[in-house]
Amino acid sequence: MEVIPTVTQREQWMVESQVFGIYNNFKELPRRAQTVLLEIVCDKHTEYLTNGLRRLPPSFCVLDANRPWLCYWILHSLALLGESIDVNLKHHVVDFLSRCQDPLGGYGGGPGQMPHLATTYAAVNSIITVGGRRALSSINRDRLYAFLQRMKDPSGSFRMHEKGEIDVRACYTAVSVASILNILDYKLVENVGDYILSCQTYEGGIAGEPGSEAHGGYTFCGLAAMILINEVHRLDLPALVNWVAFRQGVEGGFQGRTNKLVDGCYSFWQGGVFPLIQRLLRSIEEQLRIIGCRKHDNDSSKINVNLPEETRQMHSGLFEQKGLQEPPDVAKFSDVGFDFVKRSADIGPLFQNFALQQYIILCSQIMDGGFRDKPGKSRDFYHTCYCLSGLSVCQYINLETADSSPIAQEVLGPYSNLLEQTHPLYNVVLERYYSARELFSHL
Ligand code: FPP
Ligand code: ZN
Repeated sequence: MEVIPTVTQREQWMVESQVFGIYNNFKELPRRAQTVLLEIVCDKHTEYLTNGLRRLPPSFCVLDANRPWLCYWILHSLALLGESIDVNLKHHVVDFLSRCQDPLGGYGGGPGQMPHLATTYAAVNSIITVGGRRALSSINRDRLYAFLQRMKDPSGSFRMHEKGEIDVRACYTAVSVASILNILDYKLVENVGDYILSCQTYEGGIAGEPGSEAHGGYTFCGLAAMILINEVHRLDLPALVNWVAFRQGVEGGFQGRTNKLVDGCYSFWQGGVFPLIQRLLRSIEEQLRIIGCRKHDNDSSKINVNLPEETRQMHSGLFEQKGLQEPPDVAKFSDVGFDFVKRSADIGPLFQNFALQQYIILCSQIMDGGFRDKPGKSRDFYHTCYCLSGLSVCQYINLETADSSPIAQEVLGPYSNLLEQTHPLYNVVLERYYSARELFSHL
């Protein structure tokens, strides 16, 4: 019988051959040359990013409704690289974003455009990344709260904009900005959990809407939002861990959904799920205990999360049942993001940390600056932001707590590759998050 490959299968073979070509060439090189290739070319990235922040070519007009996103992708990438921008440019960014702020609250894709939740998230994270009183006080929190209330749907979820679509992205962006600005309350949170829960699929990952396919972007959004509203224990966490762990492919990078191609941006959307999961082990164990009691007549020692074999070997024993746990506390929403990052990780990484770093550095990095989806594609600011965010996740994944010092052995390539740490729920550099919290937690 003739087997006819699908278009995706053909593309997958092509990607595998390009990626393995890169890895095989790398293996043959002398050690010195390997070190050079493993280096993050900070100066080149900084040049590419700052040029983009100052002026973009006319071809970027297609992104005219995404200008706060361009600010966020660039500013966050620079912050991860430990680079600061000059004061004038900072003022410029803040003034520009202020012009995107709608008089009735929220941020549009450009001056005069209707406010939208995605660009509101991008604008707020950009302003927090710029930092300082001038920038932070440019956000009209009262009006932003009113905008969020207007976007709230009677079902509990959110619309991306007036008369716009409802999805898990909308829930995350609304909850994330409200949480980081300390305006999250029960009115905004009510029934959001029900909606996100209805988007977890039979595969274990989370889809954009009920009935759609599980996808890395929405899985990160759904999981992070559930943590921020204190309802994460309602998700089927063992199924979610299984799904995400198997999305890392032979290339070392992640795919966004089953049977699709590897892409550098999923280094964060999928990779960023792991620092969250690592701090939820107690909830996972509790769920496994309950499932185990049902499945194995109380013999819960047999329960184990289904993980790739190598990952399982790294952590043999860690998923054993550790006794009864109290149900999660109903903490104040204002402290959730802060307390979560201070929590110690209960377990090491549940993915191949070095394989992911290798994919990002050898297959996604462009030596002239910027990162790309995969070999054969061009660099762009979105992939630069999420490849660097994923790399930062890898480098700090083994830290006991957020305040421990990073370990050189976790950094692939020279130690100068070490990036700044990002807050795993909001994806802003941790130190910038702390500064913003100092102001907003008193308001
Ligand atoms: C599939 O594209 C991609 C999506 C349907 C959207 C993914 C969602 C995010 C990246 C999250 C957005 C988050 C925020 C905070 C706004 P595709 O079919 O081109 O890619 P694929 O083949 O890799 O699935
Ligand atoms: Zn991508």
